[in-house]
Amino acid sequence: MERLRTPAAMRAWADARRAEGARIGLVPTMGYLHDGHVSLVRVARGAGSEAVAATIFVNPTQFGPGEDFEKYPRDEARDLAMLDAAGVDAVYLPGVRDMYPEGHQTHVEVRTVSQGMCGAARPGHFRGVATVVAKLFLAAKPHVAVFGEKDCQQLAVIRAMTRDLDFGIEIVGAPIVREEDGLAMSSRNAYLSGDDRIAARCLSRGLFRAKELFGKGERDAGALVAAAGAAIEGEPRAKTEYAEGRDPVTLAPLSGRVDAVTILVAAKVGPTRLIDNITLGK
Ligand code: PAF
Repeated sequence: MERLRTPAAMRAWADARRAEGARIGLVPTMGYLHDGHVSLVRVARGAGSEAVAATIFVNPTQFGPGEDFEKYPRDEARDLAMLDAAGVDAVYLPGVRDMYPEGHQTHVEVRTVSQGMCGAARPGHFRGVATVVAKLFLAAKPHVAVFGEKDCQQLAVIRAMTRDLDFGIEIVGAPIVREEDGLAMSSRNAYLSGDDRIAARCLSRGLFRAKELFGKGERDAGALVAAAGAAIEGEPRAKTEYAEGRDPVTLAPLSGRVDAVTILVAAKVGPTRLIDNITLGK
């Protein structure tokens, strides 16, 4: 597995793979990898990638003031071992100054789909995500890029950016990978202490309850969202940030009778902010 630390080195690797006629798959991450990330590598291969590059970069521009940029968990040696074992061909590990040199002044802003939910709770977050992902795309020149469906709004932002800026890259969403008790895998789960870890199940519990109701014929978006939200409200260690029903394709707000809906939830469990979602009827 090659280790690349600058945009120039990443571009040279991508140019060499393209010259060989290889289809490049990209798996962008912020590191502190778990099985969910490893599944993204498998999905990249399944999408026909002949050369897979992963990136590890904790992107400062997507963290707001007072968020966890400094304490975001990092373990480069462990991440490299996991990516190597997963069969990744190259890993791109730029430094902050490589990505944002002195005088950096250009950003990518995806308007509508960045609004509400995580966009409301974390002003500037999706601008930082779109900007860094555009830079990763330009350096790694992938044919296909894979992102986890857990970050559902992020995936919609990246799809819109890729379309609007004519990147010509296939964006693939990979299914959420869950712990045995239902908790969606996330690098931030490392913050959860014993009681908070147990309490954190309330997010997936609510989503699974909504799924059960949907299976029994409930089609009212408000009732399904309320069922998901109630599980979080009923957990004393958790504080709901949002519970919303959105169109699974456009993420436009939905109400009334629905044939398909994505329910997205965010909550703080103790000091840890968690998100999760489920799509029903698709
Ligand atoms: O989902 C993540 O890990 C990050 O938001 C991403 C897409 C790698 C951009 O920094």
